[in-house]
Parts: sequence; C-alpha cells; structure tokens
Amino acid sequence: MTEVNWRRQPYNGYHRRSNATEDAELTHVGPGTPCGEYFRRFWHPIAMTAQVKDVPLAIRVLGEDLVLFRDLSKRYGLLHKHCSHRRTSLEYGIVAERGIRCCYHGWLFDIDGKILETPGEPATSRIRENLCQGAYPVREVDGLVFAYMGPPEKMPDFTVLDTMAQPGNDMVPYALDYPCNWLQVAENPMDPWHSVFLHTRITRAHFNPAWGAFPVVEWHWMEDRLGIYLTNTRRWNEYIWVRTAENMFPAIAQPPDIYQDATQEKFFPRVGITKWTVPVDDRSCKIVGWRHFNPGLDEHGKGDRSKVGLNIIDFLGQTGSERSYEEGQRMPSDYEAQVGQGEITVHAEETLGSTDTGVAMLRRGLRRAIRAVAEGQEPPRPKLNADGRVPTFSGDVIVRVPKSNSDDTAVQREVGRIVGRIVAETLPMTEAERPAEIERRVRAALKSLESERTI
Ligand code: FES
Ligand SMILES: [Fe+2]
Repeated sequence: MTEVNWRRQPYNGYHRRSNATEDAELTHVGPGTPCGEYFRRFWHPIAMTAQVKDVPLAIRVLGEDLVLFRDLSKRYGLLHKHCSHRRTSLEYGIVAERGIRCCYHGWLFDIDGKILETPGEPATSRIRENLCQGAYPVREVDGLVFAYMGPPEKMPDFTVLDTMAQPGNDMVPYALDYPCNWLQVAENPMDPWHSVFLHTRITRAHFNPAWGAFPVVEWHWMEDRLGIYLTNTRRWNEYIWVRTAENMFPAIAQPPDIYQDATQEKFFPRVGITKWTVPVDDRSCKIVGWRHFNPGLDEHGKGDRSKVGLNIIDFLGQTGSERSYEEGQRMPSDYEAQVGQGEITVHAEETLGSTDTGVAMLRRGLRRAIRAVAEGQEPPRPKLNADGRVPTFSGDVIVRVPKSNSDDTAVQREVGRIVGRIVAETLPMTEAERPAEIERRVRAALKSLESERTI
C-alpha cells in the first residue's frame, strides 16, 4: 500500500498538526542566550524622553527588568529594577539631586549604580564600597533614550546615521508596543511584496495605488554583511520608481517616504522613518524611532506630526490601541499581519516562496552574526562617510522612462540595478553632495542604456 502524502491532501487538518517550536537561536533574547548576547553588542533606543517624567519608568528590555529615570540634575539613569538591599522595585524610588533613592530604607544610587548612601547603616559600614546596583550606560539623542546593555569593555561608539543629521529635517520620536517576538516585526521591511497585497490590493490602497504594481525586487548584502539593502522597482505610467530600503543588523530599518508619489522625477529624497525593533522579552517588542518631516518628503502633506508619539503614528494599522479588533479585521495592516503570526512564530511551519528571499537572507545573516559573537568575535562596525556618519541606503529615485518595445520587466530590472549600484557607490560621500551625484550618475547610466536599446 502506498503511503498517503497528507501534506497535499484536502481536509488534512488532523495530519497537519505539529509540535514544531520556535527558532530559539533567532528569537530568544534573555541574558545568556546567543541572540540576547548579540543584541547586547549594540546601542538601542529603549524609550522616548517624553516617557521619562519626574517619577521612574519601569521598563523591560531584552528580558531584563529595569528602571529608567532622570535625576534632578537632569541626568538619565538605567538601573536594575530591584534594589540591591532587599529587592524593592526602584520604580517606587524617589529621584534625587544625584541619582535615585529607594523608598524602603533610603539607599541612594547614582546613575552609574554607585551606592552613595545607606542611611540606616553605621558610618563604618563598607557596603557602599563593596557593591554597585546593576546599571547600564544611556544617552539621550533627539528625544530618544538609547542604552547599551553589553559588556562595558566591548561598548561600541555611538554612531549617528546620515539620516539623523539632515539639514532642515524634523525628527519626531515615537514608540509602538507589539505583543509578539521581535523578529517577525523586524523582518517585515525586507518583504516589500507585502506592500502590493496587504497595503494595496487586499482591501484598499493604504498609501498610494502605485504600491499595487508588481515590482521587481532584488536584495543585496551590505559590505561586511552589516545588513541587507533592497531595490524595489516598479513602473507607474511613464516613470520607473526605484525605492531602496535597508535592514542593518540586528534591527535597524529605514523605510523611505511612506507618502511618496511617482508623478515627477526625484533623486534620493531620504527616509520617512528611522526605526529600531527592540526586544522587550521573547514574546513582546517595541518599535522605537523617528518619523522624519522635511520639505523633500510627503509632497501632498498627508503626514501629521501631531499623531506621532507613544503608541500612535500617522499611518494606518501600526498599533493595537488605535483601532478595534473588528476594524483590524476589516482593514488589516502591518500590526495585524505581524502580531497575527502569534507570540513567537514557528518558522518550521512556514512555506517560503520567491517573494520571501529577503526574509530568508535576513534570518541567514542574523544566524551567522549571532554565531560569530557566540564564538568570541565582535560584530563588524560600519565605515563612516565623509561627514563622520554611518551612511545608509534608503531613499527614492524616480526617473522618466516611457514604455518602449523592450521587455518592460527587463527594463525595470536594469534601472533598479543601476540605482542600487549608484546608491551603494555614493555611500562615502557627504549628505550634501550625494543626491546631486546620484542624479548625475543615474542620468548618465540611463543615457547609455537608452543608446544600447536603440542600436
Ligand atoms: S530595599 Fe531598597 S533600601 Fe532597602
Ligand atoms: Fe507594511
């Protein structure tokens, strides 16, 4: 008797049940886990400064319970949540001129964890010299608080991305909570195909009908495998629109202008968002970053900076609190698609296709990076551009290329490759020089492409 392959049979629910579990190497982030150790080699934003008021903020990051506070001298501190004395939570501590005082017996901790006072102990007590409260370095950058939670001797420099230093650009901080594992949120930008379906064809166009055109997508490793960048190329009327987007490991992403419109030529307006996916623990995470507002973006003024902040952002379906469950069912968006995979998705139960190439690359690159740290190597660090900043890839290039007799998909692919190559080649340039140089090089390359096609 031949064995039935139940995977391909209808009504096979009974046979398709599975005990497969999550990929712990990529998803578990607590202290001592390989992925958790990897994350602890980078600075991550953990909160908006607007969340840190005159009382401490209890916060969970990478599976650790912490308190974030600003003392009366306006210095930020990030301490282990439980007091070193008898473990009362410092979320009930009282911020002091210097540090924070535990409510229970008055021990006073400085922002670096040093014990400044143990008032109930005799003057001869050596507790202060012999112990420090657990503490991590933090720094404030443009309305966000960043922390480094790794070994002190391995702390990397804090580097500014080129997109964080654009003249005339407003960066509005935001933070969104997701009740699911960090990876299913962080990998989404490497899947631009979901824009065709989730954001355009399945219900209605969330952003722009042009997102519904089938794109030609290609993914590329960054130098030293620092991350992945993609070119997402489509035709819209007489234009070819190339979006470049990136994920830098472990969890930085920069979607270009979300309200971009292919109605005129454009050469590298930058990003709508710079964001980090920060694991809270294995089953929850948050997106923390900035929405960018500048004259080169959002030409129709659809964005709204008054709707950017804690669990709110000015585009559809990014939070679990702004819409009802039923609204999410009737018009699902990113939040529903990512949280809907479950608290920790099970990769063994997926069926990846060609549109998932970027997601598969991202997981491969992460696994390799996680293992390298586990073997004692340090993660590679990016080269800086002529401005001393980390150069990034994301932006839009829109060029007028009317349809010809040539195979249009092949033309789109070629234009996408030209743009992707030039964006990568211009990384070392200053932010001020780069767009004009991208325009010059893209126009020259298109001219030679044009003459090849007519020969
Ligand atoms: S528990 Fe904090 S001072 Fe005693
Ligand atoms: Fe999306």
